[in-house]
Amino acid sequence: MATAVQAKSHAAVFLEQDKRMLIDGDWVQARHGRTLEVYDPARGEVIDHVPAGDAEDIDLAVAAARRAFEDSDWSRMSASDRGRVIWRIGDLILENADELAELESLDNGKPLGVARAADVPLAADLFLYMAGFATKIHGQTLPISVPFAPGAQFHSYTLKEPIGVVGQIIPWNFPLLMAAWKLGPALATGCTIVLKPAEQTPLSALRLAEIMLDAGLPDGVVNVVTGFGETAGAALAAHPGVDKIAFTGSTEVGKLIVKAAADDLKRVTLELGGKSPNVVFADADLEMAIPGAANAIFFNHGQCCCAGSRLYVEQKVYDDVLAGVSERASQIKVGPGLDPDTEMGPLVSAEQLERVTGYLQSGEREGVRTVTGGKQVGEHGYFVAPTVLDGAGKGNRVFDEEIFGPVVTAIPFKDSADIAPAANETVYGLAAGIWTNNLTRAHRLIPQLRAGTVWVNTYNIFDAALPFGGYKQSGWGREMGEEVIHEYTETKSVCIGL
Ligand code: NAI
Ligand code: MG
Repeated sequence: MATAVQAKSHAAVFLEQDKRMLIDGDWVQARHGRTLEVYDPARGEVIDHVPAGDAEDIDLAVAAARRAFEDSDWSRMSASDRGRVIWRIGDLILENADELAELESLDNGKPLGVARAADVPLAADLFLYMAGFATKIHGQTLPISVPFAPGAQFHSYTLKEPIGVVGQIIPWNFPLLMAAWKLGPALATGCTIVLKPAEQTPLSALRLAEIMLDAGLPDGVVNVVTGFGETAGAALAAHPGVDKIAFTGSTEVGKLIVKAAADDLKRVTLELGGKSPNVVFADADLEMAIPGAANAIFFNHGQCCCAGSRLYVEQKVYDDVLAGVSERASQIKVGPGLDPDTEMGPLVSAEQLERVTGYLQSGEREGVRTVTGGKQVGEHGYFVAPTVLDGAGKGNRVFDEEIFGPVVTAIPFKDSADIAPAANETVYGLAAGIWTNNLTRAHRLIPQLRAGTVWVNTYNIFDAALPFGGYKQSGWGREMGEEVIHEYTETKSVCIGL
């Protein structure tokens, strides 16, 4: 018996445990006792249940976070000690990397190797990076002149103070990493948190909550309430005891968050959808640009807010690039995330499968040509073939709307003067890609693109030091880097008459 248990992976052991949410340092069921089902998207089968928290649970979690913010070991902790706790969280993520990667692969569907190489180390690195900020959040001393008070003297400075209790609502495409992006800076600034993971992928956030307690985080500093968006999420967004909401997800729900936050004017940051242009010029190194363009859309099965989903290619090389990207698409090995040969897993849920295949059908009806892919793969699980579409344009839903699946629309262009207006012709502005060997062309185009990130001769590069966020309807504010620290602090100006 003992050996049988030993043979199980840590993730399998975690799966067998009764799942509870973390409120005020205690592991609890939802007050009304309901649970929600957790699916393995590769098989379309229920693998676990977690509490379906509701408004009552959110109330308790917000109250715990408020107590922890105002009077606790956390509020009294020195910045240096706070930084050490955050560092330990990063270290413990790395120590438990195999388990976290397996949970992520099982819950979200992404290939285990990708979760192990990208999601988990990036999440750890975010905490390690933010740990250093804990001791480096400070105001300025400001020499002021005060024209209406000649001769008077003042000592003036600013203080940077934590915003307070923060509600964080995160999506299912990078469950652990999105939790890290949000928790890291909130902890570095000394805020306290109620985190609501996506209902599709709650497992890694619950495991991360255990890790955070092991790292020495005092009770109530981070509370994790699992539950549905329309109930737990909406209650959090509207809660008068919350000082700020940080949200990542659909633009549609982002707008609901803003409305919910309007009553008490709580702070809001949003990381929303995208329809990012990826531009290949004829002078680019096509041996780089073709796999680069394929990675830009197919990474994480296209379930990336910054996916390069509109592929603009200069006419002279259009046929070559279209053929090259299509060939790569057709070679991608689609399968369960836990299968070591898999390069692309299933979409996250039956709902997303329906959404993405619905887009593919609408393209077909409107006469958009499918070069490769275009349909569901297999009968079990939520797999969609990597898809390349040709001939879509304004008025086609596949061109205008975020699909959030492995679907790219390729569009030729003739004149490089046309490309900035075309690239910007969307309500979104999250990211953009440029492939060229002409330095002048790249540098001239970068400032013309209305996007929060521009990648040149690369794509999908993320780092804790590099701010990420959107122009236009792709969001408000930035995550990561020094910039995010400002999103979790208020500035207090102090003026002392001498
Ligand atoms: P969603 O925006 O509904 O879900 C994201 C998070 O918001 C989840 O935690 C969910 O529980 C929560 N939520 C949902 N409704 C809420 C409400 N009324 N109040 C507060 N929180 C709420 O996204 P969904 O439905 O899972 O996916 C739909 C589309 O959204 C995707 O096809 C994709 O286009 C986009 N999306 C974008 C993401 C991004 O990274 N920017 C991530 C996930 C989805
Ligand atoms: Mg939704």
